[in-house]
Amino acid sequence: MKSSITLLPAVARARITVVSVPVATLLAFAGCTAHGWTAEESGIINSSSDTLHVYTVENPSENEVLRRESCLDFSDEMLSTEEYARLAFKMLATVTAHSQDGVGIAGPQVGISRNIVCVQRFDKPGEPFETYPNIRITNFYGEQEPGPEGCLSVPGKRGEVARYRDIEISYRNPVTMRDTMERVIGFTAVIFQHECDHLHGVLYSDKVI
Ligand code: NI
Repeated sequence: MKSSITLLPAVARARITVVSVPVATLLAFAGCTAHGWTAEESGIINSSSDTLHVYTVENPSENEVLRRESCLDFSDEMLSTEEYARLAFKMLATVTAHSQDGVGIAGPQVGISRNIVCVQRFDKPGEPFETYPNIRITNFYGEQEPGPEGCLSVPGKRGEVARYRDIEISYRNPVTMRDTMERVIGFTAVIFQHECDHLHGVLYSDKVI
């Protein structure tokens, strides 16, 4: 069966060609799509799978992504997109998958060099996983204490790391679009520190005591 495009007159086909080529070329050169997402980010977020591939230090090209020293913040416009909701959903699905069974995950671990972490809130009823964009740790209180850690990106290993048990975080609430401060204590504070390190290319294995 002929495709519908072959039924168009030659002039119409020529018009389609003239219009479509420059758009595709522009996108390729700009390296970005609507609302500020890069084509690479959109490719990862819009993949057909509900879970995302977890980058590990064992793969040199993935290790390069994990070791990038900074992540980009999201604009409010990006936080309003379907892509952001899909990314948050897929990061949650990934960290809670039986094959991973983690307590936290950060953007670079799924190939997204953006300021986003998912953390299991052991300090809240029901211990829910929650997602935090544009997060920063704004204060540390008390002394550091050692505790065991592992990481989905450093398979098969664990080590003792000194962390604070009492911190203050700041993040962008994607519903209210307001910067929000929160005090976090206990093991959940340790997870936030581990995940925020990922946003600066730092792995727990760099800090093993
Ligand atoms: Ni980790």
